[in-house]
Amino acid sequence: MSGFVVWFTGLSGAGKSTLAAMLSAELRARGVHVEVLDGDEVRTHLSKGLGFSREDRDTNVRRIGFVAKLLARAGACAITAAISPYRATRDELRAQIPGFVEIHCACAIPALAERDPKGLYKKALAGEIKHFTGIDDPYEPPEHPEVVVHTDRESKEASLAHILSALEDLGHIP
Ligand code: PPS
Repeated sequence: MSGFVVWFTGLSGAGKSTLAAMLSAELRARGVHVEVLDGDEVRTHLSKGLGFSREDRDTNVRRIGFVAKLLARAGACAITAAISPYRATRDELRAQIPGFVEIHCACAIPALAERDPKGLYKKALAGEIKHFTGIDDPYEPPEHPEVVVHTDRESKEASLAHILSALEDLGHIP
């Protein structure tokens, strides 16, 4: 099988990292070579020092895209999990990367504010964090993603099943 990139996009707390980890475990069990580029982790290494301005977010997302492209070219499946809020930047990567599969983790803000495992929505809504995606900074949902998972309405197992079925339909996995 050729390499491909599974690009998760969605708001903080929408389930990108959880689904990326579940997907990577499942693909590894099926014998696929997988690497995960998780937003939070990338920001401690590859993108250390970048902030959350549009420019810095785009730099971060392009770096992740660059590494993902190399991994896919070497035959692996690269799974990325960054908010990647800007449609044009994601579309730029789609145009550059053969086998780009975009997964939108959709989740309504009230559900995210309710979950809020890191307490970030509480702080953002109180004005203590500025430029927080979905609160006072933009998130542009994809118009034509390969998959949309509604993480406030379906179980993570159901979301994973949708994603696996799409990867099978696209011919990326048997
Ligand atoms: S981006 O936009 O793709 O570059 O963002 P990403 O690299 O995925 O980083 C998102 C995580 O950073 C934390 N954080 C913020 N998110 C959004 N807006 C602001 N201002 C912000 N400040 C810190 C937040 O914990 C995100 O975590 P995730 O993993 O998405 O839940």
